[in-house]
Amino acid sequence: MARSLLLLYSLSRRRVSDSFRGLFFVPTTLALITSLSILLYISSTSNLFAHPNQTGLRFKHSTDYPLISKPTTISILQVPSFIRKDEEYPSLDLPRPAKVDGGPLNNQTGSNGNYVNNTGVFHDRDIFLENYKEMNKSFKIYVYPHNKSDSFAHAFLPVKFEPGGNYASESYFRKVLMKNHFITKDPSKADLFFLPFSIARLRHDPRVGVEGIQDFIKDYIVNISQRYPYWNRTGGAGHFYVACHSIGRSAMEKVQEVKFNAIQVGCSSSYFLSGYVSHKDASLPQIWPRQVEPPDLASSKREKLAFFAGSINSPVRLKLLQAWRNDTDIFVHFGRLTTPYDKALLGSKFCLHVKGFEVNTAHIGDSLFYGCVPVIIANHYDLPFSDILNWKGFSIVIATLDIPLLKEILQSISLNDYLELQSNVLKVRKHFQWHFPPIDYDAFYMVMYELWLRRSFIRVPFSGLAVSSG
Ligand SMILES: *[C@@H]1O[C@H](CO)[C@@H](O)[C@H](O)[C@H]1NC(C)=O
Ligand SMILES: *[C@@H]1O[C@H](CO)[C@@H](O)[C@H](O)[C@H]1NC(C)=O
Ligand SMILES: *[C@@H]1O[C@H](CO)[C@@H](O)[C@H](O)[C@H]1NC(C)=O
Ligand SMILES: *[C@@H]1O[C@H](CO)[C@@H](O)[C@H](O)[C@H]1NC(C)=O
Ligand SMILES: *[C@@H]1O[C@H](CO)[C@@H](O)[C@H](O)[C@H]1NC(C)=O
Ligand SMILES: *[C@@H]1O[C@H](CO)[C@@H](O)[C@H](O)[C@H]1NC(C)=O
Ligand SMILES: *[C@@H]1O[C@H](CO)[C@@H](O)[C@H](O)[C@H]1NC(C)=O
Ligand SMILES: *[C@@H]1O[C@H](CO)[C@@H](O)[C@H](O)[C@H]1NC(C)=O
Repeated sequence: MARSLLLLYSLSRRRVSDSFRGLFFVPTTLALITSLSILLYISSTSNLFAHPNQTGLRFKHSTDYPLISKPTTISILQVPSFIRKDEEYPSLDLPRPAKVDGGPLNNQTGSNGNYVNNTGVFHDRDIFLENYKEMNKSFKIYVYPHNKSDSFAHAFLPVKFEPGGNYASESYFRKVLMKNHFITKDPSKADLFFLPFSIARLRHDPRVGVEGIQDFIKDYIVNISQRYPYWNRTGGAGHFYVACHSIGRSAMEKVQEVKFNAIQVGCSSSYFLSGYVSHKDASLPQIWPRQVEPPDLASSKREKLAFFAGSINSPVRLKLLQAWRNDTDIFVHFGRLTTPYDKALLGSKFCLHVKGFEVNTAHIGDSLFYGCVPVIIANHYDLPFSDILNWKGFSIVIATLDIPLLKEILQSISLNDYLELQSNVLKVRKHFQWHFPPIDYDAFYMVMYELWLRRSFIRVPFSGLAVSSG
């Protein structure tokens, strides 16, 4: 806006001086006034010229906003109608690295200049609880059915066993969802459509594998878009799939509509990569499930400042090793740990999550489970549930560049601030656990809430539309 006014102004200066030589003055001034009025009118009535303190959902990176390849009326995000005060809506800013001076729990102002209470674990607890109730009552998902006797049925139906291991989150989510009150058999009642394929199972199926997965997904989308009208009417928007392994991100490469319009619920949620679109997609926490509570959580003495164990599979980890391998306060261990892992997590104040091949690992879930405050060193990681949870309240986020300052940053956190962080860790633990059947506010319900924020809110009438788009 400012730039266009400037342009008009300089244009007018030139024209004005010209006018002494000709009779252009009157028509050009008139034209100028007309253009200015039009501009003023547009700026006062449209939101093309967004005000910096515009309320509602803000996008972290405006260029990240999903492209919808077909001109549809579906909006990917919706501001729930019952939010009373717009300025109370959770800010979607990523947690910023803690300042060296002052610690992480000091007051800060949000991007709109308002005071942000950083001591809680929620951006806004009341709004979350109110919306959650509404979601729990009204949110409906339609799952594309799959014939049980089809030879690929195992990749579309939920697993029968208790999921385990690194990618358990995917299997847990699918297993819990498909036996849940959110499911509707009536597609006209659905807020979202679930693509039930399991990336984990397709990856291990020798008929598909990593090489064949892109063609398989393409084939599947062609099948459902021919058999049902729901895909074509939105170009795939209002659909979602879930994947914990990072190949879930590239598996959609051959169907651009899935990539650009469908919601990816994925563990490898790096907004640095083009395969993940923050705010359209949602981050799934990678959680190594544990069936029993740690026995000595309350009595554990946390004598080490910080702890890390893992393999050196990334430049970030190499940097960590180079900076801290001989340190007595920060214990970094690469390769197989000879002492028990749970003892190390219970014996440290801070536990490091450091980017490996991908931004995500199970380390955040592990730290929370063992009551250790996570330190996140993984640039561009769209942290799980960050639309709901205030990560600054229970973790420390440090940029890779600041690895040499790690000790200084952690030591500058006062005991009171640490205790606050740790008590918040214990408050958020339940959001990072899976249960079958699910328990209110557990990882499953949190993912559902994130999806609910992304639901389509315009129901397109069925008849005719699928045909007219072809
Ligand atoms: C920004 O917000 C303040 C207070 O909420 C309001 O007074 C002001 O008019 C707003 N500015 C714009 C440009 O919307
Ligand atoms: C933070 O802000 C609150 C409310 O304005 C104030 O009471 C409190 O003293 C502030 N705390 C710090 C550490 O500045
Ligand atoms: C900040 O949030 C905490 C936890 O929800 C609450 O106890 C405290 O009163 C809040 N402080 C302010 C100034 O709103
Ligand atoms: C959510 O719905 C389930 C199933 O109807 C119910 O058991 C649970 O109590 C509900 N939770 C809340 C917080 O409303
Ligand atoms: C499932 O597939 C079997 C064998 O291909 C077929 O006989 C059956 O009718 C199918 N069932 C449904 C519900 O489509
Ligand atoms: C798509 O449909 C064809 C024909 O029914 C079937 O042979 C094929 O297995 C299906 N592909 C997928 C990925 O569902
Ligand atoms: C959806 O569009 C595809 C490609 O344009 C077409 O092949 C298919 O028949 C359409 N589906 C329906 C249900 O009309
Ligand atoms: C750590 O110790 C090893 C030998 O034990 C030494 O070679 C290395 O230079 C030391 N690294 C740092 C960063 O001090």
